[in-house]
Formats: sequence, C-alpha cells, structure tokens
Amino acid sequence: MIKEINGLADLAINGAAPAFEQPLHVGRPNLAERAVFDRYLDQIFESNWLTNNGPLVQQLELEVSRRLGVDHCVAMCNGTIALEIAIRALELTGEVILPSYTFVATAHAVSWQGLQPVFADIDPVTHNLDPASVERLITPATTGIVGVHLWGRPAPVGELAEVARDHDVKLLFDASHAFACSMEGTSIGNFGECEVFSFHATKVFNSFEGGVVSTNNAALAEKMRLMRNFGFAGNDNVIHPGTNGKMTEVCAAMGLSNLELLDSYLDHNRHNFAAYQRGIEGVDGLRLLAPPEPEGANFQYIVIEVGESFGADRDEVLAALEAENVLARRYFWPGCHKMQPYRETQPTAELWLPHTTEVASRVLVLPTGKSVGDAEIDIICRIFRLLGAGSAGARAAG
Ligand SMILES: Cc1ncc(COP(=O)(O)O)c(C=O)c1O
Repeated sequence: MIKEINGLADLAINGAAPAFEQPLHVGRPNLAERAVFDRYLDQIFESNWLTNNGPLVQQLELEVSRRLGVDHCVAMCNGTIALEIAIRALELTGEVILPSYTFVATAHAVSWQGLQPVFADIDPVTHNLDPASVERLITPATTGIVGVHLWGRPAPVGELAEVARDHDVKLLFDASHAFACSMEGTSIGNFGECEVFSFHATKVFNSFEGGVVSTNNAALAEKMRLMRNFGFAGNDNVIHPGTNGKMTEVCAAMGLSNLELLDSYLDHNRHNFAAYQRGIEGVDGLRLLAPPEPEGANFQYIVIEVGESFGADRDEVLAALEAENVLARRYFWPGCHKMQPYRETQPTAELWLPHTTEVASRVLVLPTGKSVGDAEIDIICRIFRLLGAGSAGARAAG
C-alpha cells in the first residue's frame, strides 16, 4: 500500500503516516525466475557437484566472458576476495593508490594484503578518481593504482593508464558497480591489468554472493585460478600459495539465471532513471547524476546530490525519507579515510581530499531495481519537491 502525498501535511515528518507500509530499500535484489533457477538446481542435484570449479561455474565464466568481450573471467566467492587475489597476483607491494570515495572493501582488500592504501581525491562532477591527485601521491614505494568505476561510470581509464605507465606502476580496476557498462564501445572488464566485478545480492546482476576477475592476460588468469583454489594444480600438487576464493555451484546457478534476465533489469533501471529525472526536474538544489554514455550504462544507482540551495541538507532529507519508509543511503559517507582503521594511519588525508569530503556530504542514493516502479518513484519525487518547496517557504518566511 502506498499512501498519497499531496501536501506538506501528508509528510511523515509532519506527523502523518509513512508513505510506504513496507520499507523500500536501496539494493533490493533482482530475483531471477524461480523456474529457471530450479532448472539449474536440478542439474546440481543430478551432478552431485557442489563446488570446486563445477560445470555451472565454468558455464558462468564462459557466458560472462562473452558478454564482456574479454578473454578470461575467473569466478570467485565474492568481489572482496576477488580484489585481494587480483592484488596479490599482480605482486603489488608497499603503497597502492585508490579513491577514498568508494565502498570500504576496496581499501580493505589492499590493506588485508599488508599494503598501505593511499587515498586520492575525486573529480567533484564525475565522482571518479582524479588522475592529477593520483599522480601527486606517487612515491618510490607506490606499486599500484586501483581505479574504481564508481556508480558504473567509467573511471578516466586513459589518463590513469598514462600515470601508471609514466611511473611504472600497475593499474587494475574495481568494477564492482560496472557490470554491463561500457566506455566508447568497449565493455568495462577489458581495461588495466584486470578488472574485478562484484555479483553481490545488491548489485544489478547477482549470484547471491560472488564476483569475477576479468583479464585479457592468460598467464594472470591462470595464476588467479591457482590462487583461488589453494594453489592446487591437480589432486596432490600444490604449486602456488593460495586461499579459498571459489564460487559455489548454487551461486553460479543464480548467476546464470539472472544472466537470462539481465537485459530486462537494465531496461527497467533505465526506465526508473528517466522517471526520477522527470520527477525532480526543475527542483532547485538537486542534481541527479547522469551517466556520461547512457547506452553503456547499467543505471544501477540513482545518485542525487543535495546542494545548498535545496534548503534542507542531505541528512535532513535522509531522515525525512526514512520517516516515509524510504531507506535511502549516504554512499560512501564519510569516505574511507575517515573510517577508524584508516583515520588512524592517515590522520592528515583530509587535507588533500576536499572533493571527497564535499561529495560525501551531499550524496544520497535512492531505491531502484526490479522491485521499484513508477508509483514508488512518483511518491519519492513528490517528497523531494515538497521538501524543496517547504524549505524554500521556510526561508522566505524567515
Ligand atoms: C566498489 C565496491 N568494491 C568492492 C565491493 C565488494 O564486493 P563484495 O560485496 O562482492 O565482496 C563492493 C560491494 O559490495 C563495492 O561496491
């Protein structure tokens, strides 16, 4: 049940009932068709093969490679372990530069390998790594750069590659947000030494938990295959240090089922984005982040910047939406550099991260995906318009 909202008195912050009876979350899973998933489950029960590079994992790797137009995809149990294995396979040491404005897993994957994450600033318009900031932070101890295609928007791949080349450091990408995205006609997945995707439940394409590393380097792919399986090359033959990064068959089954519907998810997300765009058009102080190349976007995140002229600040908007049962998120507030493990090691990082601080204080991510449609978006946009008008009214009265 969705309650009508027509005026300020209908808002929950003004004492009315919430607009939505059930919470409307960011990142609600896109669920594959049950009948299709059941078909794959039958295969698992027939083969009695649950994990250890089973047939469904192999099929998923093949189908994802085809979709990305990349030579190799190595499936992993999740995106974080995939990042760790990629970083380790590239033999990075010392310092690794990455954005502070990303999900903390990017930083943890570096630090978990005993390396020092060094946080670079972003471009305040694109929210992606600023190559000039990266270059300023390079020291003799730097061995790698982890670019992030934040919100699925391609990072400045060419400029980062130039910085990496000039300073003889390796470049890889955290492409967790960028499945099914492309840049100038090339799929994300083909850039840098390798790219890491997350297939977490909240992502546009999920395998419950999971991920892949994609690369066009056969030797690197082979090394990561060894590393994800304890270094085993055959039953009793361990030829490399390794860990357990394997994807299970049931996760691959979910991935294969979702792959069949991926294009419908993308269409749905594109439709939702356009509805949000229309819904907040002309509202002073709001900016909906649009993809640079709509035809190469997955629209999985609805990212709104709440500017000063909106009147209500970002956290007031968050609270007002929460009162309506709309559970928006402040991704990726406050920035990794302000999180306890990194705040202590880099207490002065804020000095060179002005855009990270600014963007992290303005952004709200709104619900989209298969479980969100026109009716929900219409109400959310009405709430925004009322909050904008209400605050403008309050300012005028004040
Ligand atoms: C940018 C980014 N990097 C890494 C991860 C980690 O992926 P996973 O949850 O699959 O471990 C995520 C999301 O969860 C992410 O958003």
